[in-house]
Amino acid sequence: MTDVMTAPTRRATNPLRTGLATDRLADPCSIVFFGASGDLFKRMLFPAIYALREKGMLPAAFGLVGFSRSKYSDDAFRQYCHDQLSQFSANGAPSADMWDEFSERISYVSADFDDERHYADLKAILEHNDETLRTGSNRLFYLSTPPSLFPKIVKNLAAVGLDPRSNTKGWTRIIIEKPFGIDLASARALQAEIEEFFDERSIYRIDHYLGKEPVQDLLALRFANTIFEPIWNRNYVDNVQITAAETLGVESRGGYYETSGALRDMLQNHVLNLLALVAMEPPTDSGADAIRTEKYKVFAAIEPPTTRDFASISARGQYGPGSVSGDAVPGYRTEADVDPASNTETFAALKLFVQNWRWAGVPFYVRSGKRLARKCSEIAVTFKPVPHRLYGERTDSIEPNVLVAKIQPDEGISLRFEAKVPGPKQHIRSVFMDFNYGSGFGIESPPAYERLLADAMRGDQTLFTRWDAVEKAWEIVEPVLEYWRSTPAEFPNYEAGGQGPKSAFDLFAGWRQL
Ligand code: BG6
Repeated sequence: MTDVMTAPTRRATNPLRTGLATDRLADPCSIVFFGASGDLFKRMLFPAIYALREKGMLPAAFGLVGFSRSKYSDDAFRQYCHDQLSQFSANGAPSADMWDEFSERISYVSADFDDERHYADLKAILEHNDETLRTGSNRLFYLSTPPSLFPKIVKNLAAVGLDPRSNTKGWTRIIIEKPFGIDLASARALQAEIEEFFDERSIYRIDHYLGKEPVQDLLALRFANTIFEPIWNRNYVDNVQITAAETLGVESRGGYYETSGALRDMLQNHVLNLLALVAMEPPTDSGADAIRTEKYKVFAAIEPPTTRDFASISARGQYGPGSVSGDAVPGYRTEADVDPASNTETFAALKLFVQNWRWAGVPFYVRSGKRLARKCSEIAVTFKPVPHRLYGERTDSIEPNVLVAKIQPDEGISLRFEAKVPGPKQHIRSVFMDFNYGSGFGIESPPAYERLLADAMRGDQTLFTRWDAVEKAWEIVEPVLEYWRSTPAEFPNYEAGGQGPKSAFDLFAGWRQL
């Protein structure tokens, strides 16, 4: 592990690094990955767990169980995990010593998700871990399977006594991957099935955007400073725009994406969560409940669009062929597992209003799309124009101030303001104050899944979404989903590698260039 206190001198002397000490360790526990032979496990989850081990952030008493359809012995699964690290871990292949010690903690169940007996096998492994690895009857179940399996898994866990109520000696928690439902009704049905056995305190609905460092920093920006909050309202803010743009297409996920689309895949969860963090009131404390209550209140203040608004508050698109970073790429309709006449949107934009005292009348423009010109997730708060043009109309134009929270790939905060160009004339030009997390703190931000897995093991729900907010978020997007389902789209309507469909610019001409 690279301990920040013993890191190379340049880092150790950076004053901004004070306070970056290793976090509180998680409780002893076993973590079970349902869907352990899937893509998410090998690319993200296992590398994240192992990185926590390397950083000394896993408890000494720890066990990991894979539970999936593919057939593996324990040893074969260990080898599989090892191979994934070589491919997907930032640190490459693990060192032999650490791996030998760690791999003994890994077991596997080749499972039929319907068969209760395999859950009984799992229970036996967990009890064995409690005895041999001292995992203290603490269990974290991570559901990274197709969502259709979620209710079945939860029910079978309860059937063999692996639900929280049956565990009197330790804690039992469940992490649920998105999507949480595909619309309001299915989300409510899923919630009802889960809460039969797991109460809200033990449910961790994951939204990996909340684990990204610059997203966590939004609250610090707002509430650990005094200069922003007084102007963070309708009196000074002209509009807020939130972008989550990708250059990737649907890759190998055409089957899933056909049932989803950009509105469900990105806007209902990641992007609305960003909006909540920008718009929420200061929480009474930094606890999970106080923060999540304020986020919920933002969603409750967004009036779901009504029929007469749709054309003016929403825009959708689907990419046709084009080129991204100089490479020719196919259109969405010719991707694998996609209907050649598909009406699924790969781009979605909305104009939303948070109807409360602070934000009345301020539009929040949100957009997300695949195969756009540039990967970029950011939040831009544009302030109102100056009230009086001291320099007269004939001088340069005076641009409004814009505060941009850059989430990825750049991570930082940038403020645009106007300055006089040196010289005898009164030339005004935009300049920027830029803060960059990487160079500022001299440390790379840990991947979101590391933070979120560690938090779930510690029992901190702050960065996980609460049911009331998930339900409200569905209420906001549902009318648009319904409208799009019932009106034919003229797809494809944007070229891969471009700025998105024209309709997005009809909705809002001021989108920032990608
Ligand atoms: C996932 C979506 O939740 O987020 C994907 O299902 C998308 O379609 C991904 O590509 C984007 O995540 P990130 O962290 O790369 O912005």
